[in-house]
Amino acid sequence: MHQLEKPEIVALLANRVEVAELFGVADRIRQRYVGDEVHLRGLIEFSNICKQNCLYCGLRRDNQDIKRYRLEPEAVIELAAKAKSYGYKTVVLQSGEDVYYTVERLQTVIHGIKDLGLALTLSLGEKTREEYRAYREAGADRYLLRIETTDRQVYDQLHPGMSLANRLRCLRDLRDLGYEVGTGIMVGLPGQSLESLAEDILFFKAIDADMIGLGPFIPNPATPLRAAVGGTFELALKVMAITRLLLPDSNIPATTAMETLNKQGRTIALQSGANVVMPNVTEGEYRQLYMLYPGKICINDTPAHCRQCIGGKIAAINRTIAQHAGFRNGKNLGQ
Ligand code: 5AD
Ligand code: SF4
Ligand code: FES
Repeated sequence: MHQLEKPEIVALLANRVEVAELFGVADRIRQRYVGDEVHLRGLIEFSNICKQNCLYCGLRRDNQDIKRYRLEPEAVIELAAKAKSYGYKTVVLQSGEDVYYTVERLQTVIHGIKDLGLALTLSLGEKTREEYRAYREAGADRYLLRIETTDRQVYDQLHPGMSLANRLRCLRDLRDLGYEVGTGIMVGLPGQSLESLAEDILFFKAIDADMIGLGPFIPNPATPLRAAVGGTFELALKVMAITRLLLPDSNIPATTAMETLNKQGRTIALQSGANVVMPNVTEGEYRQLYMLYPGKICINDTPAHCRQCIGGKIAAINRTIAQHAGFRNGKNLGQ
């Protein structure tokens, strides 16, 4: 395992040391620790309604230029059943922070999905410990909550009414409650330095994150950051590769935002440390309404087409699709 210190990480991010080998090393570490299997997680974006106002995000509550939607619990379970029919072993439920989804409604959804025999990941934002406990008791296996940045000044600037302290509290609670915990950041946020990216990577290591999702920040014209300079594909890829060196057996997705900035973005990511892809299983017009940032891929594609597309990309680089749920600790759901 590589024990990089902050100055070495900064030097790699800044191209001050030889980085030509970085991607290849990350690829070999990925191969050695988590193998050639790619885990597919079917992503269900079930509500674009959000009470928060993050400056970068198209779902922020002050954005009036977006048609809002939410799926009812039964419809979410139906999509999960379709995800299962595409061969996905895990579904990821993602939404804005939508208060319609009470613990009770979520319990209905969680039970329905667990009855299908699928692993279940939630990505619903900041909740109380008691809420996290209730979802866990209902059967949720994993939770994704990106820290977004560990730089307090940048965090405060971008998240009115929120605090880094509460986000850290959430991640701690999730860990205590026995979830597999995913986190991550955006690369290229306004005011974010290479030093703070190095701190972010060391944070993933410090909390021993089970999953780390990273992508470039992409300015959204429907937000206050419309004129900001976004992140680059190259820098996001470097952060990802270094993360693989420090957390060799973690799950790292090749993200949608990566492919938004580079036509081969997910393929390149899979060859630079990533071992997970999260194909979208949201249907119809909802896909384009879940507009976190502009240029999001697959907004006019069907779930079936994405399944076929991603299968082709994985086969083309001689990797295989995992036939199990892909828990980091090797736990299986007995399928
Ligand atoms: N660019 C890139 N990623 C974004 N996200 C939200 N808005 C943007 C944007 N403009 C990411 C955040 C969030 C995830 C669901 O989407 O990191 O955690
Ligand atoms: Fe809401 Fe999440 Fe977007 Fe923030 S990033 S506005 S919490 S959907
Ligand atoms: Fe959706 Fe390729 S994954 S079209």
